[in-house]
Amino acid sequence: MYQTLLASLEDHILTITINRPDKLNALNKDVFTDLNKVLDEIESNPDIRSVIITGAGPKAFVAGADVSEFNALNKEQAMALAKRGQDTFARIENSSKPIVAAVNGFALGGGCELAMSCHFRVASENAKFGQPEVNLGLIPGYGGTQRLVQLVGKGKAMELLMSAHMIDANEAKQLGLVNYVTTAETLLDHTKKILEIINSKALSAVAGCIKAANAVFDETSNGYALEIQVFGNCFDTDDMKEGVAAFLEKRKANFKGI
Ligand code: COA
Repeated sequence: MYQTLLASLEDHILTITINRPDKLNALNKDVFTDLNKVLDEIESNPDIRSVIITGAGPKAFVAGADVSEFNALNKEQAMALAKRGQDTFARIENSSKPIVAAVNGFALGGGCELAMSCHFRVASENAKFGQPEVNLGLIPGYGGTQRLVQLVGKGKAMELLMSAHMIDANEAKQLGLVNYVTTAETLLDHTKKILEIINSKALSAVAGCIKAANAVFDETSNGYALEIQVFGNCFDTDDMKEGVAAFLEKRKANFKGI
């Protein structure tokens, strides 16, 4: 079904593995085609409640856009490449289902940008983050200049972008770029445990959290107004009625996802 991804669904969690380990999972055209296909599947398959993105092999999450595709591009083609990358990562960011990056090694360039487009990140001790594009006479093109500033603040982002300096998992955690640092062996289990908790909540409320929190960074929408709207919409769901009733009756809520 996919040329460059492995996908496995267990306990309503879809684990997507970018699978080009001999190229450190670099993002080429085929990976973007497959990512868009799997995003269609995530949107349409009700069995999928949340998603993990990780990389194949012990060394890399994703070591960047596939640099071998850059040589042949003129300016217009380069802009189209960046647009496709940005559109794909915007689909991840705006997914109504939680998508979490399990960063298992190098997350450089487009790999760091992919991780940053996910709703949050968990990293193994050997993870390394960076935007090394300036080494190639480039800047990030898949949203990195924007999301790095959002996640770590302007001063640190400026330094990382301009210096191509790589940071390890612990520094990434100190900066707020990742939520947890685990061993390589426990990375996926740790990430799944977080998603199992999220999966036990009301589906529409989780989707509402994503939508409202994303609005902070969307200049075209008023986040407070959107929050009022989404809060109101929750009152139209069976899950909200069940959640409130369960609390008042001192029992565990049995959410149905409607
Ligand atoms: N695009 C295309 N191929 C890549 C790649 C990328 N972004 N990153 C790694 N690869 C390929 C290498 O060319 C090599 O392929 P080969 O065996 O056919 O020569 C293979 O993956 C293994 O990488 P290698 O460089 O030998 O591993 P390493 O352990 O010595 O170094 C890195 C690891 C991550 C430090 C190094 O691969 C690197 O700097 N990659 C590019 C990072 C980058 O600039 N990303 C941003 C791109 S805009």
